[in-house]
Amino acid sequence: MQPNSLQPKRILLIVGGGIAAYKVLDLCRLIRRKGLLVRAVMTKAAGEFVTPLSLGSVTGDKVYGELFSLTDEAEMGHIELSRDADLVVVAPATANLLAKMASGLADDLATTLLLATDKKVLAAPAMNLRMWAHPATRRNVAQLTADGVTFIGPTAGSMACGEFGVGRLAEPPAILVAIETLLAGDTAIPLPEGAWADPADSGLRPLSGRHVLVTSGPTHEPIDPVRYIANRSSGKQGHAIAAAAAAAGASVTLVTGPVALADPYGVTAIHVETAREMQDAVARAMPCDIFIGAAAVADWRSGDVAGQKLKKSAGAVSELTLVENPDILAGVAQAKTGRPALVVGFAAETTDVIAHAEAKLARKGCDLIVANDVSTSGESPGGVMGQATNTVHLIDHTGIESWPTMGKEAIAERLVARLAAMLAQ
Ligand code: CTP
Repeated sequence: MQPNSLQPKRILLIVGGGIAAYKVLDLCRLIRRKGLLVRAVMTKAAGEFVTPLSLGSVTGDKVYGELFSLTDEAEMGHIELSRDADLVVVAPATANLLAKMASGLADDLATTLLLATDKKVLAAPAMNLRMWAHPATRRNVAQLTADGVTFIGPTAGSMACGEFGVGRLAEPPAILVAIETLLAGDTAIPLPEGAWADPADSGLRPLSGRHVLVTSGPTHEPIDPVRYIANRSSGKQGHAIAAAAAAAGASVTLVTGPVALADPYGVTAIHVETAREMQDAVARAMPCDIFIGAAAVADWRSGDVAGQKLKKSAGAVSELTLVENPDILAGVAQAKTGRPALVVGFAAETTDVIAHAEAKLARKGCDLIVANDVSTSGESPGGVMGQATNTVHLIDHTGIESWPTMGKEAIAERLVARLAAMLAQ
């Protein structure tokens, strides 16, 4: 994913139980001063050193602690909590926490999140020098490094226990630099190839062995650091299609614009902001057997993105110069080499749904168009975007098939079954 400096990045801070825990209050202040968001999770032992109240006041967010908290699970499940962040930071990473991480233990919220996360982890250890030097800790650090965990510190100095040596938590400004360095790159950890495959699946599911690439959600096109061009797409239909394709046995790559939805289970999700980032991510995820363009890609972007917030000046209205975005669907459908066997587009129309969709089928060169009326007075009164149901018409080179109003999941399943049958022919 292209790093996007316009969207505040989120840090999930796991606070371990060590005397250095008080320093994370300072770290949180520094993180927020940089315009980043931070949400804290405390281990039980951390509660002996800092209070949820003090952490909450510096993060400006709820502080999480219990794995089996009904309220927390209802508000934000622990899986979502682990996926919502761009980077996970463990500070102080105690010897106990490192040992649990190295063994993949998940017996509280903090360790469960560390095992469930799909983002890179930065650990800032702090402990007594003998604990740091102990062969067990050395083994754990070596294992975690091999697993992809990045370490910052510990540094040398005098310790709370009165001894002198290596084991002090790195200073918050140094941890911040490490955070910024990691955030400058891609922090997502993709699932290993085939990780979602059911070992009992002997290739009998309709899309077993196939790669399905889906775009979903809107794109956001920046105007200046605080404003962007967007549309009302929620991503529900595209995400439901990705989930249905995964359930049908496909390996699925979902390239999604900014949405308020969790990544569907068993798909490799790539998060992007703009149409050009989406185009890049699609190009990198190719080749595929089926491409489904369900995203509501913004047709235009600002031709001149301002580096600073545009200010209004009395009486003058600034003009926005628009530049056309690349047509991702047409690019895939008209590719000279490596064209997917099936290319499916969506047509979001407010008038003459069928006629416009037929024109799009020909113009873009795809095999199937799923057309829907997105007006608020059309087939789905109240509109389609953001709603749970949809009314679609399938248009291909042989004719039109209209489906009754259905839930977006049901449409996704039926569409995927239909595509699997087309591919098998
Ligand atoms: N699409 C795309 N890249 C774009 C614009 C659209 O990949 N820059 C894809 C959408 O994902 C969808 C299909 O093209 O599958 C049709 O999108 P839609 O917004 O309905 O049509 P447009 O191409 O934008 O045409 P128009 O503005 O004339 O409706």
